[in-house]
Amino acid sequence: MLHDVRYHSVLMKENRMVTWQERWRQRRTSWHLPDLHFDLENHASKLLPKPERRILVPLCGKSVDVEWLYREGHTVVGIEGIEQPIVEFFSERNLPYTTDHLTWAKVFKTEDDRLRMYCCDIFKMDMESLGKFDAVWDRASLVAIYEEDREKYAKVIKALLAPDFRYLISTTQYTPLEVYSGPPRNIPTALVEKLFSKLHFFVLFCISVNWEGCHGLSWMLPVCHSVFYCYIIKGDEDRSSKRDVNLQVRQCKG
Ligand SMILES: C[S@@+](CC[C@H](N)C(=O)[O-])C[C@H]1O[C@@H](n2cnc3c(N)ncnc32)[C@H](O)[C@@H]1O
Repeated sequence: MLHDVRYHSVLMKENRMVTWQERWRQRRTSWHLPDLHFDLENHASKLLPKPERRILVPLCGKSVDVEWLYREGHTVVGIEGIEQPIVEFFSERNLPYTTDHLTWAKVFKTEDDRLRMYCCDIFKMDMESLGKFDAVWDRASLVAIYEEDREKYAKVIKALLAPDFRYLISTTQYTPLEVYSGPPRNIPTALVEKLFSKLHFFVLFCISVNWEGCHGLSWMLPVCHSVFYCYIIKGDEDRSSKRDVNLQVRQCKG
């Protein structure tokens, strides 16, 4: 039995990207938003207090947020394991790009080289050559990572942070069901605390949503109630974001 569990675990890690490949191929990508994500829109000034930052978007898909950050003048690096969304990202925006084949990734870059998307498994990146980042925008990323990869994921992100970094995370909390446990997976605040311990970390915002009768978001339908949490983690002593956060409650109307 133990052998089976270990075997499954090894197999799963080796095939980490297969499920995502299938999801993109079948266009089961309901996490993809047509507009800029509201948490980024609301908290961009906290994530990016200075202009021309170097920002990492792990597990970026073909997120609109990447283009927004680029248009705002920042240098943006996206990491995405599947080539299809990267190609679609550039072609849907008529954004000219070139590609390079590295030993560990295929990289897509804009003509000015201010936006790069690396096609690779985030756990197989060459961290040295990526350099350090002033900011990380983590939306539908930590919640998408397999449970057993979370520690490793946090380690990867932490290794890429510049000393005065800002890291904005948008997550979901709910009671997992036997028939549904994500992604998006349940990320309790204690887990965020554990993964990023020793760093200054604040809850920026949380909103509780009742999904009963809601037909808008199919990916959350199996769960009747969830709480969205938005955290910021900082590399400096600036504690200006620290404040009491009131839980807002919303009933989703289908
Ligand atoms: C839930 S989607 C979120 C996409 C994007 N952050 C957004 O907000 O639209 C997760 C993405 O991560 C990619 N992905 C999953 N595991 C990955 C890994 N280990 N390395 C690189 N990309 C991965 C998937 O292909 C998928 O596009």
